[in-house]
Amino acid sequence: AYVITESCIKCKYTDCVDVCPVDCFREGPNFLVIEPDECIDCTLCVAECPVNAIYPEDEVPEDQQHFIALNAELSQNPAWKPITAKKAAPADADEWKDVKEKFHLLDR
Ligand code: SF4
Ligand code: F3S
Repeated sequence: AYVITESCIKCKYTDCVDVCPVDCFREGPNFLVIEPDECIDCTLCVAECPVNAIYPEDEVPEDQQHFIALNAELSQNPAWKPITAKKAAPADADEWKDVKEKFHLLDR
């Protein structure tokens, strides 16, 4: 499966969701995750993300490994609903796109 990592937090541009053929994205307050059992590894979403947040599971960077379990966990959270169409990013998304340390800002 593909995995969304730290760059997405507080950016949530949602370009990724428009291209997914199986609608496996789930949306939280300031982050998205991919439901790993539904993702068919089509690769289409990777190029859409302006902050390069999406990786195949076996290429997730060393310091982002915890996001593999986090995508699996949060995609099962009933409050995290499917999102299938792009929507407006947060007003301050561009201010966060180059910030690296955002994990502590994740809202669940
Ligand atoms: Fe959807 Fe394809 Fe991205 Fe998986 S790799 S989340 S199936 S667009
Ligand atoms: Fe997040 Fe990138 Fe999608 S910022 S919402 S993974 S386009």
